[in-house]
Amino acid sequence: MTLPAEVAAAVDGRRLGALIRDVSTLGGLPGGGLDRQTLTKPDLDARRLMVDRCCSLGAQPWRDPAGNFFLRWPATASDEPPVATGSHIDSQPGGGTLDGAYGVCAAIEVLAALASTGARLRRPVEAVIWTNEEGCRFAPGTMGSSAFADPSALDEFLAATDGSGATFGEGLAQLDAAFPDVPLRPLGVPLHAFVEAHIEQGTTLEDTANTIGIVERIQGSRWFRFQTRGAASHAGTTPRSRKRDALAAAVEVASALYGLLTEGDDALRLTIGRLEVVPGSVNVVPAAVTFTVDLRHPDTEVLDEVEARLRALARPTAGCDVQVMRTMTMSPSLFHPAVVDAVARGARSVGLPSLRMASGAFHDSLRLIRHCPTGMVFVPSRDGLSHNTAEYTDPDDLVAGARVLAHAVAELAGR
Ligand code: GLV
Ligand code: MN
Ligand code: MN
Ligand code: MN
Repeated sequence: MTLPAEVAAAVDGRRLGALIRDVSTLGGLPGGGLDRQTLTKPDLDARRLMVDRCCSLGAQPWRDPAGNFFLRWPATASDEPPVATGSHIDSQPGGGTLDGAYGVCAAIEVLAALASTGARLRRPVEAVIWTNEEGCRFAPGTMGSSAFADPSALDEFLAATDGSGATFGEGLAQLDAAFPDVPLRPLGVPLHAFVEAHIEQGTTLEDTANTIGIVERIQGSRWFRFQTRGAASHAGTTPRSRKRDALAAAVEVASALYGLLTEGDDALRLTIGRLEVVPGSVNVVPAAVTFTVDLRHPDTEVLDEVEARLRALARPTAGCDVQVMRTMTMSPSLFHPAVVDAVARGARSVGLPSLRMASGAFHDSLRLIRHCPTGMVFVPSRDGLSHNTAEYTDPDDLVAGARVLAHAVAELAGR
């Protein structure tokens, strides 16, 4: 047996399942699913569990100024850049147990498989926890991986606030206080390669009866924030002619945005996921409304064209001022052929039906592309459901994905 095949075979489904279950209790919701938003207590508790698990295997933990954690498995040539694998453990407020956490648990299972085989690889292997991939508590998403790939981005992130006014920087200070035992190292240390395992969060694998997705690309995403401004006034006395209702303006803009969807091609995604009305009182005409737009498409030209039409909606509407601002940009991105092929060889070696495919969701891997050769492994999501507490993947598929990941990581780490 080759060394990668030996490490893949040492992946233990029970051990992986137990870790996924243990981590799911941290931030677990009574009816199932998770609320483990970034840098909350459940996020810190889950990191502690993972650090302890890896240290007991013999790994060395590190963290960086963006709160990213690296759990390092030693190698024969320890001065060579490591092969890194991992994902995020923060969740949506009503998220599933696998979005993100699966990739970190699978990475830790790779370390456990290395430990159990006693395999000596040439390059170190690091299991990584990236900070704040989701972007729901502090926007934008993928902060940790973005700062890792471009350290100059961190300063701006530190000032990002959550709904209660707490900043990302304050959250990181709490993390510092909770992990004095984990040494700091700089952002952006060299990596030989990065591979991320993730649930698909769509229906492609299920529809085609494939177990493994060999991810070749990620579609582009852009986030926007619209704000409409009118004037607060009395709901019972203000005549229609004098009303400057910020929500009426927002509804007009929103319905024009939904119109772009019906005119656009099928691949276009546009979601208004958050809407805030100020002052938000039953009997006050709304003075201001803020809402978000999440726009996605595989082609930059289409994104540019839709963005131009979206920006044209920022004009006086229903007596209100309307403004729009882009808050996040992720270009459509291609993974590195060397890592894509390593994943494909992993799928072939473990004898699983696989498909070369694109990702509809964004991932930390998209940020890593500018740093080192990067790729991803997908496993199926039942009914394509994710960002939902009912998210589910067959346990056998979770093990299969971890075997493919182990094969790819061991091959990239070399002997
Ligand atoms: C990631 O959570 C995404 O929204 O694609
Ligand atoms: Mn995710
Ligand atoms: Mn997600
Ligand atoms: Mn995500």
